[in-house]
Amino acid sequence: MIHLNAIPLDFEPRRKILPKLPEFVSPQGYREPEMSEFESSFLCGVLKKIRPKKILEVGIAGGATTAIILQTLEDIGAPYEMHSVDAAAKFYRDPSKPSGFLAMFAKEKIFGELRGTHAFHLGTYLPQVIDGIGGDIDFVILDTVHSMPGEGLDFLAVLPYLTDNAIVVLHDVAFNQIGKDVNAHATTVLFSSVTAEKFLNFTMDFNSTKFNYPNIGAFQINQQTRDNIENVFLSLILRWAYMPSQGELNLYLGHYKKHYPKELCAIYIEAIKMNL
Ligand SMILES: C[S@@+](CC[C@H](N)C(=O)[O-])C[C@H]1O[C@@H](n2cnc3c(N)ncnc32)[C@H](O)[C@@H]1O
Repeated sequence: MIHLNAIPLDFEPRRKILPKLPEFVSPQGYREPEMSEFESSFLCGVLKKIRPKKILEVGIAGGATTAIILQTLEDIGAPYEMHSVDAAAKFYRDPSKPSGFLAMFAKEKIFGELRGTHAFHLGTYLPQVIDGIGGDIDFVILDTVHSMPGEGLDFLAVLPYLTDNAIVVLHDVAFNQIGKDVNAHATTVLFSSVTAEKFLNFTMDFNSTKFNYPNIGAFQINQQTRDNIENVFLSLILRWAYMPSQGELNLYLGHYKKHYPKELCAIYIEAIKMNL
């Protein structure tokens, strides 16, 4: 089922923390965070609504969104455990800085002692760290490559570690319609192929789009998500926009073999062969 405009947007955490962070503008004019105010308000709204205990972020960039999530969790005021994972140890827009440098600044200079715990896992793929992070994850934000195979690989990697009604937020679910990259539809494909309760808040932000469909969405998993997970595996046979390294492909295969039946692993292997 789809739920439209069911998430109470929350603009506060971003407005609170962002002015306290150093401003970052890349030579190409990209700013931090890589989410609009509306998108951050949806993310914070979901967090406030479900008050998660164990949060996983995959795809950090400079870390302004990490800091916004931490601000939201601090505002909720309950204990939490948060993990932020990025394949790149260095910020991809400025390699003189580590990925997540803005959240590192916020932790050191703004928050002081946190109510919860937060750990960075940098220069690593999710299958390499997920056993250490462990199960009972009840909130995930996926915001990585956006083109196929992209976020689908990490959702499949994390699903076995999620609580029964965990929420997954996907950024850039309409990016292939907004930006110049028509291949940027990995989160669109995941959002469409997964069986779950889906949440979208239509936006009135006509400065960035001519349509109401938002560029961020969320879904809440249930037993049917796990029962129908073959649809997400099947989505991987779409034409990939980039080819992960053999090492990365093998990492995910080894991980899937531990958690999924051989028929589903066979679909993944065929998807690789078709795309090689
Ligand atoms: C679009 S940026 C993230 C933006 C950030 N979430 C924000 O709101 O500002 C994508 C990030 O994902 C990272 N990344 C790309 N592929 C990844 C993967 N397979 N696993 C983890 N991180 C990945 C990149 O290094 C980059 O830092």
